[in-house]
Amino acid sequence: MTSHISIITILSILLMFPYITTQLYVAQSWDNKITYDKLKDLCSNTQNSSFCFQTLKSNPRIATTNLRDLAAYTINLTSDSAQQTLPIVKLLAEQATDPQLNARYTSCVASYDTATGYIATLMGSLGNGDYHSVLVDATLVMLNVGDCEQQFNTPPVDPSQLPERNRNLFNLASIVAEIALELLG
Ligand SMILES: *[C@@H]1O[C@H](CO)[C@@H](O)[C@H](O)[C@H]1NC(C)=O
Ligand SMILES: *[C@@H]1O[C@H](CO)[C@@H](O)[C@H](O)[C@H]1NC(C)=O
Repeated sequence: MTSHISIITILSILLMFPYITTQLYVAQSWDNKITYDKLKDLCSNTQNSSFCFQTLKSNPRIATTNLRDLAAYTINLTSDSAQQTLPIVKLLAEQATDPQLNARYTSCVASYDTATGYIATLMGSLGNGDYHSVLVDATLVMLNVGDCEQQFNTPPVDPSQLPERNRNLFNLASIVAEIALELLG
């Protein structure tokens, strides 16, 4: 994961502009349907634009959906991804006999636990029109997944399917963060 610095920058900017932006833009209507160009544009700002495009197009209602519904759709995918991976990470930690691998997976369990907590608040914040919180919490999910991934920056490499699952969750959270930015105007 190479994007830590930019995420931290985004976070500090956000923390400097507390809820003002949310209050200003919450009154705007986001009932407009998403155009193909808008989707391309949105995805070009995410971690992996082709992943983003594929993911959002998989929404069967994409032709009639608006930005808020697209956020809800992606939050559901984010939640599914974390919930499917958490038991796998726990199992990896339990089964790793190598002390170094065991320590790394155990750290990843903590990261996934924390990320799951942030994911649990996303839908409520979206429903309240609190896009600032959606943005911050989605970014914190990315940071925590990045923390897990960083455990394996030095050898031994992770022999499991966790790196791929980390990428999947990271990419999904990055789409949620980008949609929140769009919703903030
Ligand atoms: C981006 O996503 C696509 C589609 O899921 C995948 O094939 C590709 O390997 C990903 N690229 C990177 C750099 O992760
Ligand atoms: C998200 O998941 C909830 C619960 O499973 C479901 O009721 C809702 O329709 C889903 N929303 C979208 C936009 O897919």
